[in-house]
Amino acid sequence: MKLDTLLVHVGRDPERFEGLVNAPVTRASTILHPDMASFNAAASNKHGVPYYGRYGTSISKLLGAACAELDGAAGAVLFPSGLAAIAGTLAALLRPGAHLLMVDSVYAPVRELCEKVLQPQGVAVTFYPPHAGAGIADLLRPETQVVYCEAPGSHTFEMQDVPAIGKAAAARGIPVVIDNTWATSYFFKPLQHGADIAIQAATKYLVGHSDAMLGVATCSEKWLPVLQRSTALQGNSVSADDCYLALRGMRTLAVRLRQHYAGAMKVASWLQGRPQVARVLYPPLTQGPDRALWERDFTGATGLFGVELDPACEPHVEAFVDGLQLFGIGVSWGGYESLVLPSHVRRSLPAASTGPLVRFHIGLEDPDDLIADLAAGFERMP
Ligand SMILES: Cc1ncc(COP(=O)(O)O)c(C=O)c1O
Repeated sequence: MKLDTLLVHVGRDPERFEGLVNAPVTRASTILHPDMASFNAAASNKHGVPYYGRYGTSISKLLGAACAELDGAAGAVLFPSGLAAIAGTLAALLRPGAHLLMVDSVYAPVRELCEKVLQPQGVAVTFYPPHAGAGIADLLRPETQVVYCEAPGSHTFEMQDVPAIGKAAAARGIPVVIDNTWATSYFFKPLQHGADIAIQAATKYLVGHSDAMLGVATCSEKWLPVLQRSTALQGNSVSADDCYLALRGMRTLAVRLRQHYAGAMKVASWLQGRPQVARVLYPPLTQGPDRALWERDFTGATGLFGVELDPACEPHVEAFVDGLQLFGIGVSWGGYESLVLPSHVRRSLPAASTGPLVRFHIGLEDPDDLIADLAAGFERMP
């Protein structure tokens, strides 16, 4: 089955739900069992059959199964947000005394998680350069327990050679975890490219309408019980309503992403020609290794990219952003609407981008309208 077809058909079960096209929202805490034998059977297999709301109900199980199928994974574990998926996955994998290799271009709250939670708990963290590739082997220590990737990186959009990192880590039996929120399962399949666990903030493109928080981790057979056990015992639970919204978002993911991609290409290409723009940070349009890695491993790009402005623009960035009519100012991305945000990047290693950075999310609007809005913004920059 082709991916577009799969997105329409996975995670549905009309025969089970009186012919309903969409699986109903199954809100629950207590689940009643007809007798002790069935209660005991459910208790011994909490992840398989409904037992108690915290372990999931039919709608969350359908969503999990759908996410797993899209990634070609053995299974999926759901979390109440993308960050919870990252924190929960790391908590499941890291033991006291562990060493974690964390990409330096990681989403900022994950950097904070490392510095404010993991390091005080005794986990040693090394921030490694996003372009480490096979050179990651030199950074592995006997106590390294996780290699964490994010491609492209937050705000600076460096790509990573995930297969090379996967090969080096696999040779030492170390799991590779990747944040695949930008590409989604639609444009990149991490588990087929050397990663062991793929995380998505489903909050972004999967939900797609800026109205629910959700995270998902998909993984191979080896890691599924590890993630399930740890996640359940940390009390993570997802709302049935939000699972419904994610399944609903899944139905239109392909058409939305194609439009995000086309719109972003048009707007980013236009930005590339502005005198105020030093560089566009969008894997399909950058030169050198980032573009080559994207072309080799990904089948498309989504609506999020950055621009590095000329340093002389620094004092005028707020005037540019404040007057934009079609770009909302706010965190997150992946919804149907366009967004803009100046980026304040913190890195442990020297960053490739030095000028003022602005991040754009290109929504489903007509790109010509977005370009006109941006052109007026540049007029406000003396
Ligand atoms: C790359 C990336 N990963 C993870 C997250 C966290 O997702 P959530 O906001 O659902 O916690 C974000 C949020 O912006 C993100 O940009």
